[in-house]
Order: sequence, then C-alpha cells, then structure tokens
Amino acid sequence: MFKEIKESADYLDARLKKSPTAGIVLGTGLGGLVDDIEVELEVSYEDIPHFPLSTVESHSGKLIFGTIEGVQVVVMQGRFHFYEGYSMDQVVFPIRVMKVLGIRNLFISNAAGGINPSFDRGDLVIIEDQINQFPTNPLIGQNIDELGPRFPDMSAPFDPDYVNKALGVAQELDINVKKGVYVGLPGPMLETPAEYKYLATIGADLVGMSTVPEVIAARHMNLRTFACSIVTDVCYGEIKKVNIEDIIKTAMSAEPALTTLIKTLIKKVN
Ligand code: HPA
Repeated sequence: MFKEIKESADYLDARLKKSPTAGIVLGTGLGGLVDDIEVELEVSYEDIPHFPLSTVESHSGKLIFGTIEGVQVVVMQGRFHFYEGYSMDQVVFPIRVMKVLGIRNLFISNAAGGINPSFDRGDLVIIEDQINQFPTNPLIGQNIDELGPRFPDMSAPFDPDYVNKALGVAQELDINVKKGVYVGLPGPMLETPAEYKYLATIGADLVGMSTVPEVIAARHMNLRTFACSIVTDVCYGEIKKVNIEDIIKTAMSAEPALTTLIKTLIKKVN
C-alpha cells in the first residue's frame, strides 16, 4: 500500500514547484474556497496513478495546488465516501498522498445533521471530538509503518490549539460558531428518528457520512487536524423529511463564512 501512495505522491511532486504545507478537504457546497486559491496546478483524480476510480458523484474530483493567503496548499475538490462503495483504504488514500507530499496540517469541511437542540440550520460548528460509527476504519489490516504507529493516540483528534484559534478568529470577524462532537456513519440513507435519539444518547452533536475516516488516517500520520461542519438539517424534536437539494442549498448559504474562517485560520497557523 505504501508503494502506491508513494508513487502517487511522486507523480504529483514531479509536477510541483513547491510542496504544500496544508491540506484542505472541501465538503458539500463548500466549493467557494476554490475561488481564493492562486492556482499553480490542477490534476484530475483519474490522471493520478493509483487514485480510486471515480463514481458518478465524485467524477469531477481533482487536486488543486496553489497558495491561499500566501500559504502553500493542496485542496481536494471532491472526496471519496464510504457509501459510494470505496474501501476505507480508498477513502483515505488522498489524505495519505497529501501527507507524503509534505502537508503538516489538514482542514476539513462537511455538511452535517444537527443533533444538539441548540443548533440551527446554517450554523457553523467547529468539531472538537468524533465518534466512529462506521463498521470499520482505515487502520484495520497490516500497519503502514512508514506512515505511523500500530496503535495511534486519539486523545486529541482535533487540534485543541486550532480549535481555540478558530474560536478567536470567529470572534474577531464576528462569525457565529458553535462547538460539537461529530458522529460519522456510513449512510447513504439519512437516519430514522430513533437513530437520531440514539446518536444524541451516545454523545453526538452532529451527524454525517464523512470526515471520521479521514481524521483517523490523519492522526495516524500525526497531522494536526481541524474540521468544521455546516448544519444542513436539524435532527431533534419532530423529524422532518429532508431532501438533498435543501441540504446543498443550506450548505451553500453558510459557505462564505466558513471560507473566511478557514482562510484566516490557515494563515494564522502556518
Ligand atoms: N445525517 C447524516 N448525514 C448528514 C445529515 C444527516 O442528517 N445531514 C447532512 N449530512
């Protein structure tokens, strides 16, 4: 596995003038950050050796290299979801490639359901911890010793210093943010009312279908990780029918604030 990761990274490295120091994963409706990149190179996933083959949903996926606020970044436009049928190794393959390319920190965004009754649609929630409810995880199997230890520590999955700095940035810029625990499960169906209650009981404030595998792989490699959700639907009280168009629309409405937050934070910590 490491051989494939290294070959992908070598392919990209040969085309780059400078190595990225920060990685960014753009989630649903959060594509706006792309407009703030001074682009140096774009590579479609299908052109990168060993990258997972795309399904319909993620077929426009690409890596974008460039600078944001003067920081050398690599941005994943489009991620691989477990519900699309990818293995965990495939879901986190790009994260591992970005690490080998030189990133030291990882910024993740996603759309999530709000379980905590103090959350509203459109809220930005900084993730302070996570719960893995996928049936598996990307570290199962032979350990990739080149990347990290067999039994990685998970006592601080999200960098506490980054969380604090992001709260400070939000206050300075008058961006309303909350904090919460994210639970990741496979999907693609949304949850039943009983499942939302169960997720609240186990300590989750947010629910979604991504991020958790990426963070596990990132922490295995000792990347400093920051993640922020946009609450796209609320999952307490009387559960309403949701449709994916509404979810995307809500994500897009909160996009400018999240873009500003992440841009400012990246500059502060690099
Ligand atoms: N459940 C799971 N994933 C989601 C949700 C949800 O309610 N909203 C956005 N992503």
